Amino acid sequence: MSAIKDKLIKDKLPQHIAIIMDGNGRWAMGKGMERISGHQTGVESVRRVAEACSEIGVQNLTLYAFSTENWNRPKYEVDALMELLVRTISGEMQTFIDNNIRLRAIGNLDQLPEACREELNLAMSKTSKHDGLNLILALSYSARWDILNAGKKMSNDVLQGIINPLEINENIFKSYLSTAAFPDPELLIRTSGEHRISNFLLWELAYTELYFCDKLWPDFEKDDLYTAILDYQKRERRFGLTSEQLR
Ligand code: FPP
Repeated sequence: MSAIKDKLIKDKLPQHIAIIMDGNGRWAMGKGMERISGHQTGVESVRRVAEACSEIGVQNLTLYAFSTENWNRPKYEVDALMELLVRTISGEMQTFIDNNIRLRAIGNLDQLPEACREELNLAMSKTSKHDGLNLILALSYSARWDILNAGKKMSNDVLQGIINPLEINENIFKSYLSTAAFPDPELLIRTSGEHRISNFLLWELAYTELYFCDKLWPDFEKDDLYTAILDYQKRERRFGLTSEQLR
Protein backbone atom coordinates (compact mmCIF):
# COMPACT_ATOMS: atom_id res chain seq x y z
CA MET A 1 0.00 0.00 0.00
CA SER A 2 1.12 3.52 -0.67
CA ALA A 3 -0.01 6.49 1.40
CA ILE A 4 0.78 8.83 -1.50
CA LYS A 5 -1.29 6.74 -3.91
CA ASP A 6 -4.27 6.98 -1.52
CA LYS A 7 -4.16 10.78 -1.73
CA LEU A 8 -4.71 10.83 -5.51
CA ILE A 9 -8.00 12.32 -6.67
CA LYS A 10 -9.43 9.58 -8.87
CA ASP A 11 -11.50 11.80 -11.15
CA LYS A 12 -8.63 14.23 -11.74
CA LEU A 13 -6.05 11.82 -13.12
CA PRO A 14 -4.11 12.84 -16.20
CA GLN A 15 -5.20 10.71 -19.13
CA HIS A 16 -1.78 10.99 -20.72
CA ILE A 17 1.59 11.17 -18.96
CA ALA A 18 4.83 11.62 -20.93
CA ILE A 19 8.22 10.88 -19.41
CA ILE A 20 11.77 11.84 -20.36
CA MET A 21 13.62 8.99 -18.64
CA ASP A 22 16.93 10.67 -17.95
CA GLY A 23 19.97 9.78 -15.86
CA ASN A 24 20.64 6.12 -16.69
CA GLY A 25 24.24 6.82 -17.65
CA ARG A 26 24.98 8.90 -14.54
CA TRP A 27 23.33 6.28 -12.31
CA ALA A 28 25.64 3.57 -13.70
CA MET A 29 28.81 5.69 -13.72
CA GLY A 30 28.12 6.72 -10.13
CA LYS A 31 28.24 3.06 -9.20
CA GLY A 32 31.39 2.41 -11.24
CA MET A 33 29.43 0.43 -13.84
CA GLU A 34 29.06 0.65 -17.64
CA ARG A 35 26.39 3.07 -18.89
CA ILE A 36 24.36 0.19 -20.31
CA SER A 37 23.80 -1.16 -16.76
CA GLY A 38 21.91 2.06 -16.12
CA HIS A 39 19.69 1.42 -19.14
CA GLN A 40 19.17 -2.18 -17.99
CA THR A 41 18.13 -1.08 -14.51
CA GLY A 42 16.02 1.65 -16.15
CA VAL A 43 13.85 -1.10 -17.64
CA GLU A 44 12.73 -1.98 -14.10
CA SER A 45 11.57 1.61 -13.63
CA VAL A 46 9.69 1.33 -16.94
CA ARG A 47 7.91 -1.77 -15.62
CA ARG A 48 7.08 -0.11 -12.28
CA VAL A 49 5.71 3.03 -13.90
CA ALA A 50 3.66 1.12 -16.50
CA GLU A 51 2.19 -1.06 -13.73
CA ALA A 52 1.44 2.01 -11.59
CA CYS A 53 -0.33 3.77 -14.50
CA SER A 54 -2.38 0.62 -15.15
CA GLU A 55 -3.29 0.26 -11.46
CA ILE A 56 -4.58 3.82 -11.09
CA GLY A 57 -6.21 4.04 -14.53
CA VAL A 58 -4.04 6.39 -16.59
CA GLN A 59 -4.91 5.68 -20.24
CA ASN A 60 -1.70 6.74 -22.04
CA LEU A 61 1.97 6.70 -21.06
CA THR A 62 4.57 7.93 -23.56
CA LEU A 63 8.21 7.12 -22.81
CA TYR A 64 11.12 8.82 -24.60
CA ALA A 65 13.13 5.63 -25.08
CA PHE A 66 15.39 6.62 -27.99
CA SER A 67 15.65 10.01 -29.67
CA THR A 68 16.73 10.85 -33.22
CA GLU A 69 19.81 12.43 -31.63
CA ASN A 70 20.61 9.24 -29.69
CA TRP A 71 21.80 7.66 -33.00
CA ASN A 72 24.90 9.84 -32.58
CA ARG A 73 25.98 8.07 -29.37
CA PRO A 74 28.94 5.65 -29.57
CA LYS A 75 28.04 2.65 -31.72
CA TYR A 76 28.44 0.17 -28.86
CA GLU A 77 25.88 2.06 -26.76
CA VAL A 78 23.42 2.33 -29.66
CA ASP A 79 23.79 -1.40 -30.39
CA ALA A 80 23.40 -2.28 -26.72
CA LEU A 81 20.27 -0.11 -26.43
CA MET A 82 18.73 -1.73 -29.52
CA GLU A 83 19.46 -5.19 -28.12
CA LEU A 84 17.98 -4.16 -24.79
CA LEU A 85 14.87 -2.92 -26.54
CA VAL A 86 14.40 -6.24 -28.34
CA ARG A 87 14.96 -8.20 -25.11
CA THR A 88 12.67 -5.94 -23.09
CA ILE A 89 9.82 -5.95 -25.59
CA SER A 90 9.80 -9.76 -25.81
CA GLY A 91 10.64 -10.29 -22.11
CA GLU A 92 7.85 -8.02 -20.86
CA MET A 93 5.02 -9.70 -22.77
CA GLN A 94 3.70 -11.23 -19.52
CA THR A 95 3.65 -7.75 -17.91
CA PHE A 96 1.61 -6.49 -20.90
CA ILE A 97 -0.81 -9.43 -20.57
CA ASP A 98 -1.14 -9.25 -16.77
CA ASN A 99 -1.85 -5.50 -16.90
CA ASN A 100 -3.94 -5.40 -20.10
CA ILE A 101 -1.33 -3.06 -21.63
CA ARG A 102 -1.35 -2.24 -25.34
CA LEU A 103 2.09 -1.51 -26.75
CA ARG A 104 2.29 1.35 -29.27
CA ALA A 105 5.18 3.24 -30.85
CA ILE A 106 5.86 6.67 -32.34
CA GLY A 107 8.88 7.85 -34.30
CA ASN A 108 10.84 7.04 -37.42
CA LEU A 109 10.48 3.29 -36.92
CA ASP A 110 11.92 2.51 -40.38
CA GLN A 111 15.32 3.52 -38.99
CA LEU A 112 15.30 0.79 -36.33
CA PRO A 113 17.29 -2.41 -36.95
CA GLU A 114 15.15 -5.13 -38.51
CA ALA A 115 15.18 -7.36 -35.39
CA CYS A 116 13.92 -4.47 -33.30
CA ARG A 117 11.19 -3.55 -35.79
CA GLU A 118 10.04 -7.16 -36.02
CA GLU A 119 9.88 -7.64 -32.23
CA LEU A 120 8.04 -4.35 -31.87
CA ASN A 121 5.50 -5.17 -34.59
CA LEU A 122 4.94 -8.61 -33.08
CA ALA A 123 4.36 -7.20 -29.58
CA MET A 124 2.10 -4.43 -30.94
CA SER A 125 -0.03 -6.95 -32.82
CA LYS A 126 -0.12 -9.43 -29.87
CA THR A 127 -1.35 -6.67 -27.53
CA SER A 128 -3.63 -4.90 -30.02
CA LYS A 129 -6.81 -6.17 -28.35
CA HIS A 130 -5.77 -4.98 -24.88
CA ASP A 131 -7.86 -1.98 -23.84
CA GLY A 132 -5.99 -0.85 -20.70
CA LEU A 133 -2.97 1.45 -20.73
CA ASN A 134 -1.48 2.49 -24.09
CA LEU A 135 2.27 2.18 -23.47
CA ILE A 136 3.68 4.38 -26.21
CA LEU A 137 7.41 4.05 -26.89
CA ALA A 138 9.03 7.02 -28.63
CA LEU A 139 11.73 5.34 -30.72
CA SER A 140 14.00 7.11 -33.14
CA TYR A 141 11.70 10.00 -32.32
CA SER A 142 12.18 13.73 -32.25
CA ALA A 143 9.42 16.30 -32.33
CA ARG A 144 11.03 18.30 -35.13
CA TRP A 145 11.27 15.12 -37.22
CA ASP A 146 7.58 14.43 -36.56
CA ILE A 147 6.46 17.99 -37.36
CA LEU A 148 8.56 18.12 -40.55
CA ASN A 149 7.27 14.73 -41.59
CA ALA A 150 3.69 15.85 -40.98
CA GLY A 151 4.36 18.96 -43.09
CA LYS A 152 5.69 16.85 -45.95
CA LYS A 153 2.75 14.40 -45.87
CA MET A 154 0.28 17.26 -45.69
CA SER A 155 1.92 19.10 -48.62
CA ASN A 156 1.70 15.95 -50.64
CA ASP A 157 -2.02 15.64 -49.85
CA VAL A 158 -2.48 19.27 -50.88
CA LEU A 159 -0.72 18.55 -54.20
CA GLN A 160 -2.93 15.48 -54.73
CA GLY A 161 -6.05 17.58 -54.05
CA ILE A 162 -6.92 15.45 -50.97
CA ILE A 163 -7.02 18.47 -48.65
CA ASN A 164 -7.69 22.15 -49.22
CA PRO A 165 -4.77 24.23 -47.83
CA LEU A 166 -7.21 26.96 -46.76
CA GLU A 167 -8.97 24.47 -44.48
CA ILE A 168 -5.86 23.32 -42.60
CA ASN A 169 -6.36 23.84 -38.87
CA GLU A 170 -4.82 22.46 -35.66
CA ASN A 171 -6.93 19.30 -35.76
CA ILE A 172 -5.97 18.53 -39.34
CA PHE A 173 -2.29 19.21 -38.61
CA LYS A 174 -2.41 16.97 -35.53
CA SER A 175 -3.87 14.14 -37.62
CA TYR A 176 -0.58 13.98 -39.59
CA LEU A 177 1.62 13.61 -36.50
CA SER A 178 2.72 10.18 -35.26
CA THR A 179 0.87 11.02 -32.02
CA ALA A 180 -2.46 11.51 -33.86
CA ALA A 181 -4.17 8.63 -32.04
CA PHE A 182 -3.45 9.99 -28.57
CA PRO A 183 -4.64 13.03 -26.61
CA ASP A 184 -2.00 15.63 -25.70
CA PRO A 185 -0.26 14.81 -22.39
CA GLU A 186 -1.50 16.72 -19.36
CA LEU A 187 1.71 15.95 -17.46
CA LEU A 188 5.36 15.68 -18.53
CA ILE A 189 7.91 14.28 -16.09
CA ARG A 190 11.67 14.56 -16.58
CA THR A 191 14.01 12.84 -14.17
CA SER A 192 17.64 13.56 -13.24
CA GLY A 193 17.33 17.26 -12.44
CA GLU A 194 17.63 18.46 -16.05
CA HIS A 195 15.16 21.18 -17.06
CA ARG A 196 14.85 20.70 -20.80
CA ILE A 197 12.33 19.37 -23.33
CA SER A 198 15.02 17.92 -25.64
CA ASN A 199 13.00 17.82 -28.85
CA PHE A 200 10.18 15.77 -27.27
CA LEU A 201 6.50 16.28 -28.23
CA LEU A 202 6.95 19.99 -29.02
CA TRP A 203 3.49 20.32 -30.59
CA GLU A 204 1.71 18.20 -28.00
CA LEU A 205 3.24 19.86 -24.91
CA ALA A 206 1.71 23.29 -25.66
CA TYR A 207 -0.40 23.27 -22.46
CA THR A 208 1.19 20.38 -20.59
CA GLU A 209 2.17 20.74 -16.93
CA LEU A 210 5.92 20.18 -16.53
CA TYR A 211 7.33 18.31 -13.53
CA PHE A 212 11.05 17.94 -12.90
CA CYS A 213 12.40 15.41 -10.46
CA ASP A 214 15.99 15.11 -9.22
CA LYS A 215 16.02 11.33 -9.01
CA LEU A 216 17.87 9.43 -11.73
CA TRP A 217 15.57 7.24 -13.84
CA PRO A 218 16.74 3.84 -12.45
CA ASP A 219 15.83 5.08 -8.94
CA PHE A 220 12.35 6.26 -9.97
CA GLU A 221 9.68 4.44 -7.93
CA LYS A 222 5.91 4.17 -8.14
CA ASP A 223 5.64 6.69 -5.28
CA ASP A 224 7.66 9.19 -7.34
CA LEU A 225 5.06 8.90 -10.07
CA TYR A 226 2.21 9.36 -7.57
CA THR A 227 4.01 12.40 -6.10
CA ALA A 228 4.26 13.95 -9.59
CA ILE A 229 0.54 13.30 -10.21
CA LEU A 230 -0.37 14.80 -6.81
CA ASP A 231 1.64 17.92 -7.68
CA TYR A 232 -0.18 18.09 -11.03
CA GLN A 233 -3.56 17.75 -9.29
CA LYS A 234 -2.82 20.84 -7.18
CA ARG A 235 -2.14 23.05 -10.18
CA GLU A 236 -4.62 25.34 -11.86
CA ARG A 237 -4.64 24.77 -15.62
CA ARG A 238 -5.78 27.99 -17.25
CA PHE A 239 -5.19 27.41 -20.99
CA GLY A 240 -4.71 31.16 -21.46
CA LEU A 241 -7.81 32.13 -19.45
CA THR A 242 -7.86 33.95 -16.10
CA SER A 243 -8.53 32.22 -12.74
CA GLU A 244 -11.81 34.14 -12.49
CA GLN A 245 -12.96 32.85 -15.86
CA LEU A 246 -12.25 29.30 -14.76
CA ARG A 247 -14.31 29.75 -11.62
C1 FPP B 1 18.57 8.63 -20.96
O1 FPP B 1 19.60 8.43 -20.03
C2 FPP B 1 17.96 7.35 -21.35
C3 FPP B 1 18.00 6.81 -22.59
C4 FPP B 1 18.68 7.47 -23.73
C5 FPP B 1 17.43 5.50 -22.91
C6 FPP B 1 16.25 5.07 -22.09
C7 FPP B 1 16.12 3.62 -22.19
C8 FPP B 1 15.69 2.80 -21.21
C9 FPP B 1 15.17 3.25 -19.91
C10 FPP B 1 15.73 1.33 -21.41
C11 FPP B 1 14.83 0.76 -22.43
C12 FPP B 1 13.47 1.32 -22.43
C13 FPP B 1 12.36 0.71 -22.82
C14 FPP B 1 11.11 1.49 -22.90
C15 FPP B 1 12.29 -0.69 -23.19
P1 FPP B 1 21.07 8.91 -20.40
O2 FPP B 1 21.80 7.76 -20.99
O3 FPP B 1 21.01 10.11 -21.28
O4 FPP B 1 21.62 9.27 -18.99
P2 FPP B 1 22.72 10.39 -18.63
O5 FPP B 1 22.11 11.71 -18.95
O6 FPP B 1 22.95 10.18 -17.18
O7 FPP B 1 23.92 10.09 -19.47
